[in-house]
Amino acid sequence: MIFTVAIDGPAAAGKGTIGRAVAARFGFRHLDTGLLYRAVGAKGGDPVAAAEALVPGDLEREGLRTLAAGQAASRVAAIPQVRAALVEFQRRFARAEGGAVLDGRDIGTVICPEAEVKLYVTASAEVRAHRRWLEVGGDEAVVLAEVRERDARDMGRADAPLRAAADAFVMDTSVMSVEDAVARAIAVVERRL
Ligand code: C5P
Repeated sequence: MIFTVAIDGPAAAGKGTIGRAVAARFGFRHLDTGLLYRAVGAKGGDPVAAAEALVPGDLEREGLRTLAAGQAASRVAAIPQVRAALVEFQRRFARAEGGAVLDGRDIGTVICPEAEVKLYVTASAEVRAHRRWLEVGGDEAVVLAEVRERDARDMGRADAPLRAAADAFVMDTSVMSVEDAVARAIAVVERRL
């Protein structure tokens, strides 16, 4: 079976948690596409060359989940040639036999406009910063400023800006429990299967 679940939304909205749970429930493969951009940002040097040379092992590297790695990722993600170098890998993953869940910023709009299910997962900047702060610690005001900066960069770039696809099911998780959010996402997928 070929079946793609595209999950987009801003940082710390719950995409990863929902994506992993949906994949586990249906036995689909899961790709956190943010890791691709984090790995490119972490390689240093010329980001276009880094994206063209990216291998799956690069996604396992330590330190990719930090705030700094997220900022570096969103900078390289604004470069059209970096995005272009990563398209084929993501499309192959999405359309390989067995079902796939991809989460990111442009999955439903650019990578897989034909996805069977599109979810747009969001939450207020304050709620998302609080969740991220629980994971990383430090000064919550700084975390909020970083979340806002990354939102502005991801939504404002010319190539593949973050936005909900016209046919996406929008979920605001600001006042939703993880269990609720996962249950709703699973219900949406079940209706399309
Ligand atoms: O999702 P995550 O926070 O790991 O993403 C890191 C950065 O990578 C994002 O801020 C965004 O700039 C970029 N990204 C993207 N397109 C994707 C996934 C991530 O531009 N599909």
